[in-house]
Amino acid sequence: DKGAYPYYMLKEIDEQPAVMRRIQGKYLDNNEPKFDAKLIKQLTDATKLYIVGAGTSYHAGLVGKKLFEKLAKTPTEVVVASEFAYDDPIIEDGAMFIFLSQSGETADSRQVLVRATNEWKVPTLTITNVDNSTLAREADNAVTLEAGPEIAVASTKAYTAQIAVEVLLATAVGRIKDITAAKEIDLNEQFSQTANAMQVVVDEKDQIQKIAEDNLAKTRNAFYIGRGLDYNVALEASLKLKEISYIQAEGFAAGELKHGTIALIEKGTPVIGIITQAATADNTRSNLQEVLSRGANVINIVREGLAKDGDQIIIPSVDEIMMPLVSVVVGQLMAYYATLLRGYNVDQPRNLAKSVTVE
Ligand code: F6R
Repeated sequence: DKGAYPYYMLKEIDEQPAVMRRIQGKYLDNNEPKFDAKLIKQLTDATKLYIVGAGTSYHAGLVGKKLFEKLAKTPTEVVVASEFAYDDPIIEDGAMFIFLSQSGETADSRQVLVRATNEWKVPTLTITNVDNSTLAREADNAVTLEAGPEIAVASTKAYTAQIAVEVLLATAVGRIKDITAAKEIDLNEQFSQTANAMQVVVDEKDQIQKIAEDNLAKTRNAFYIGRGLDYNVALEASLKLKEISYIQAEGFAAGELKHGTIALIEKGTPVIGIITQAATADNTRSNLQEVLSRGANVINIVREGLAKDGDQIIIPSVDEIMMPLVSVVVGQLMAYYATLLRGYNVDQPRNLAKSVTVE
């Protein structure tokens, strides 16, 4: 039931702070991640992780790679399910596969699971929002997202829930492996702060609506750019925008623009920069400057602490590795309002189904 909400998507965007608290309540105990012991042992023993997903779940996997490498120091590869399913990969001894799937029914991901189980004979984990789904049943381990039913075709709270669970799993492994970053992160504090930061963003939706009105009402195309985790979010924010508003939107690594894509920038092209990582903030700012001088309408999403005069959307700071959970909410709302403006059905975009059970 969407209650007073005009669309499920807006309801699901608004629910994200509560989902963070639910995940905190279920998977954190005394500031320690709490998962099945056998699962954590398999993950800790793994010398290589593969994260498999499609669409938005693939994008959550891109963030997961950075989390597992930073917090657990486990080399991690992220793969697009439909591609990997028919590749001839060299699977190392000690590999483990993690499947990210909101529905747990995606045929492309299942095809990889079948090979992981029968051919490569590696341990498997499915992280899903649907308890008894095919991928949950067929993997060695299953972890549920606790996001609650996601009805809108465009995935929002499942993406942030996937990242939150990845943070906890990576920290659990990292602490066993004695990795400093995992020992130092105060999970309770970070989850509370993240929920609060998301709340600030959803409470400021009017500002995002206004920016969407000024920049996305008529445009044919739009770009999101960022570096590192901000690039990962740029990909997700642009997928949201294209799938519901039908604006041709692309996410680019900010540093790659000048290697070709910048040729697409015309007067008035919206370019949205995401800046939440201190190490790359200045570089992304110069890349935004380059497109500004070619006539782009530049909008930036900047975390507090890195913000400067003239920045448009300032979002609260949490630990940098958790910033995708906050910045993506801006992208979700931007897509939502762009779609309303253009008069399309937010929850039921054309040509798309909520769960894709064909390859
Ligand atoms: C985008 C979206 C899709 C799904 C993809 C995978 O908003 O919803 O890209 O993320 O079809 O679906 P799941 O996660 O159910 O495997």
